[in-house]
Amino acid sequence: MLQGKMLKAMNEQINAEMYSAYLYLSMESYFQSVSLTGFAAWMRGQVQEELFHAMKMYDFVGERGGRVVLDAIKKPDSSWKSPLAAFKHILKHEQMVTGLINDLVDLAMKERDHATLNFLQWFVAEQVEEEASVGEIVDKLKLIRDDTSGLFMLDAEMGKRVFTLPQKGE
Ligand code: FEO
Repeated sequence: MLQGKMLKAMNEQINAEMYSAYLYLSMESYFQSVSLTGFAAWMRGQVQEELFHAMKMYDFVGERGGRVVLDAIKKPDSSWKSPLAAFKHILKHEQMVTGLINDLVDLAMKERDHATLNFLQWFVAEQVEEEASVGEIVDKLKLIRDDTSGLFMLDAEMGKRVFTLPQKGE
């Protein structure tokens, strides 16, 4: 049964995942406002991923007999000075989330909570992927700098992202 410090920390992580979805939804609106519809579509996929993360954790807490208690979601920023600034923000945010997941892993080890430790491995792998894909976009935006045609090409590429919900157990 999930209880005590581990339950509290998992509840906090659900909030952090919901905040991530909120932040990316705010970014989607920013990209729509500057007519970068491919970036906006990419953000929608990111929102869905973060909601999936939150729900995956929510379901696990329930399965382990824990009680989810929802907290307020912090207000996200609403504008960025450039696409590069937005993506640098995402990279920093994802690095922070990786730190939170690592802290959860440390706590699960300390508490000898093997089921939670096993569950969290999916998130450890997911963070490696998230940081890599965002880091790649940051690098491309740095190469593009003020080249508008390069930005439109990247926007078209970003718009091709297809989000598919991972299957249970994946
Ligand atoms: Fe749920 Fe982007 O980490």
